Amino acid sequence: MRALLLLPLLLLSSCTGGISNAAAPSNGVVVSVSSDASNVGARILARGGNAVDAAVATAFALAVTFPEAGNIGGGGFMLIHFPDGREPVVIDYREAAPAAVDANTFFKNADRTAYRLVGVPGTVRGLALAHEKYGKLPWRDVVSPAIALARDGFVVNRDLAGSLGRVWKDNPKNAELRRVFAPPDAGGPSHLWTEGDRLVQGDLARTLEVIAKGGADAFYTGPIADKIVAEMERGKGLLTRDDLAAYRPVVRAAIHGTFNGYDVYAPPPPSSGGVGLIEMLNLLEHVNLKSEARFSSATLHFMTEAMRRAYADRARYLGDMKSDSPILAELTSKEYARRSDVAIRADKVTRSADLAPEISIRNEPEHTTHFSVIDSTGLAVSNTYTLEQSFGGKIVVAGAGFLLNNELADFNPQPGVTTKSGQIGSAANLPAAGNRPLSSMCPTIVTKDGKVVIVTGSPGGRTIINTVLCVLVNRLVYEMPPRECIDAPRHHHQWFPDQLEIEPGLAKEYSGAVKELRAMGVAIDPVPHRQGDAHSIFYDAGSKRWIGVADRRRAGGGVGTVANELTWQAGVGHPLLSK
Ligand code: DON
Repeated sequence: MRALLLLPLLLLSSCTGGISNAAAPSNGVVVSVSSDASNVGARILARGGNAVDAAVATAFALAVTFPEAGNIGGGGFMLIHFPDGREPVVIDYREAAPAAVDANTFFKNADRTAYRLVGVPGTVRGLALAHEKYGKLPWRDVVSPAIALARDGFVVNRDLAGSLGRVWKDNPKNAELRRVFAPPDAGGPSHLWTEGDRLVQGDLARTLEVIAKGGADAFYTGPIADKIVAEMERGKGLLTRDDLAAYRPVVRAAIHGTFNGYDVYAPPPPSSGGVGLIEMLNLLEHVNLKSEARFSSATLHFMTEAMRRAYADRARYLGDMKSDSPILAELTSKEYARRSDVAIRADKVTRSADLAPEISIRNEPEHTTHFSVIDSTGLAVSNTYTLEQSFGGKIVVAGAGFLLNNELADFNPQPGVTTKSGQIGSAANLPAAGNRPLSSMCPTIVTKDGKVVIVTGSPGGRTIINTVLCVLVNRLVYEMPPRECIDAPRHHHQWFPDQLEIEPGLAKEYSGAVKELRAMGVAIDPVPHRQGDAHSIFYDAGSKRWIGVADRRRAGGGVGTVANELTWQAGVGHPLLSK
């Protein structure tokens, strides 16, 4: 009862602000796309695990409960903020290209088979490194909840039922995928998957058990590696036993910028997330956004111009580069944003072609997942990971029950060939042995006086950095309540195609501003798209608590919303936190 009374409090909101003078919140929060996975993380916090333990457990759980993007066969970025003043770190566990890859490997369409696009998975060593360096609980304890979910099964929600049904139906010849994700009455007349069905994954449970016992080496050099290598041989993939054994995650310094007195941290290359986000925030710091309404044509214009510039620079310069490359410091500097050829003008819509006439970029599919965690000490984890496409390349490692990524599709396919229809060939992101393809993943943490005020990130391919920008502007400039920051309509411009994409809510509720933008010369995609899935945490100065906000755009939608935002506090707990 007490816990139930607390619920409205958790959902209350008020303005953001520094928390240096207030007592630190004593609650912990886990927010993800899956209530079962959030529950796993929150139980780890309740047992005395820290945010890193909870994040690692949540990531393993999502590999079970959100198979389209949660994974052990993919990769991602984990950003960790420490409450004791240490600099935040990023664990880069992005997939790497096998040794057989060179700049021409994916030149022809025929070379881009799902098997050849598999990058060396980074997730298991990435999570193991995070746990070893920063976790508190035994390894087995953070892997075990996922084993139970795979072995005993879990109830499929509407969104997952839809995606499982689609992948099963659309891949009639993929026997292993269909065996692993077969609907309960696969032989029935019309039944695919329905909300409420139970997904049991016995092979995956056994694989996770092997990881729990043997650690990450079981995956990279042990029995799971054997199965991956056999799968690659079956499908003529490029990934070898040596590639697996050689894979290492990298601990990197986060890209750091400031915005209106806040500190913003996000990942460095091989993600473009941090550089793109900081470049846009620097550009926007010079225009007085606050004097115009959030969804006025003026604000939308300023943000579109910032996006256009950052994405042009992304295509031109970014790839798997050295962390001390001078261009990184330049693009994220305040001076760059002030340069006369870069700064945004209130009265001028830039044509993307004028920023770099020769280059265009391709679209990316939308399937990745982000989750956010904070514990009662203020240790925070912002994690985005992916298989690239939904269910990756649809390759289930035979007998092992998990999917492999097709991440190498993120490399520029053809050296020097850039087309207006969407392909880029700049040198910075060409395939090369051992290199990691350029990502847009952008797990982000914002602090004020060293204390966390926002943990956020999103899926959405190239839209990711703009989704994070929208969330940050909503909160840090317009001081929207947390729920509104996530629900508010989003918009995206990625330089090419030279058009603004908007969400249905923007098209409908702000049609006046949209009309004005068109009159200014901004091309707007006539079909509004849903953008991102930003499961986030905000500091709420009113209640002096961290508040989890599940994005309702995907599986977090409708009834799932509250269950996905699990808040734990000693002696109180969350009403939905299972024992
Ligand atoms: O790393 C990247 O940026 C892409 N592979 C992510 C793909 C993605 O977000 C698709 N999802 N929604």
